[in-house]
Amino acid sequence: MSNQHKESFHRRVLENKSLLFTLLATAAILTGGLVEILPMYFVSKAGDPLPGMKPYTPLELAGRDIYVREGCYNCHSQMVRPMRSETLRYGAWTRSNEYAYDHPFQLGSRRIGPDLQRVGGKYPDSWHYEHMRDPRSISPGSIMPNYGWLYTSKVSADDVSDSLGGMKTLGVPYPDTSAAYADAEMKRQAGEITGRLAAGGIKAEPDTEIIAVIAYLQRLGTDFKPVATAAANP
Ligand code: HEC
Repeated sequence: MSNQHKESFHRRVLENKSLLFTLLATAAILTGGLVEILPMYFVSKAGDPLPGMKPYTPLELAGRDIYVREGCYNCHSQMVRPMRSETLRYGAWTRSNEYAYDHPFQLGSRRIGPDLQRVGGKYPDSWHYEHMRDPRSISPGSIMPNYGWLYTSKVSADDVSDSLGGMKTLGVPYPDTSAAYADAEMKRQAGEITGRLAAGGIKAEPDTEIIAVIAYLQRLGTDFKPVATAAANP
């Protein structure tokens, strides 16, 4: 008999004893699960908002609802993983606290397009205004669809008021959820955005959906302020 036929320790002692093997395999899987899940229970601050973090404004929340409605998450993730290649491309890796007011969070699982977690402030408003209407006019060869209807559909203060109410039920601290509050806040922020667009020669209607989407995109990832580069980029 050559050594080739000698059964390994693994086969003799573990695999041949099916009950023992099942128990050991179960223990290994449970340990793996516990190592991932248990810390979340002990690090009680994992889901608390970042210091000074504010909920989305009514206009940003409206933009977020449009993001969900249009299924942008089918092509875009919102999570920078703590790996060098990711932090170099997108910026500081995502902290769990950043989703504190995101119900449901938009982690996404597909990256047909780039991650959007840190897209806020990366481009001027006018970039998004042109890109969303015809991505290929800005990024030649892009497979992102055109979103022409966002430039004529209007945001309704009543719908936003409902969203604010829903978020408040889930624990987001909004001072007011009325349609009047939503309307006034949206007018204020939309005015700032259309003002900046006008400075670049773009005439946009403040109550159209594209303005809400721009407000949302420009907010993404801006709550997190890295204290030191070392902490931000492991
Ligand atoms: C079919 C997949 C697809 C869908 C759906 C999609 N995108 Fe994209 N998106 C892309 C691709 C690919 C790119 C990269 C090329 C480009 O800039 O157009 C991109 C780029 C972007 C960028 C620029 C990111 C950067 O850092 O340069 C933004 C912002 C963006 N998309 C927003 C959206 C929003 C908002 C929606 C939903 C209304 C959406 N996308 C839907 C595929 C998609």
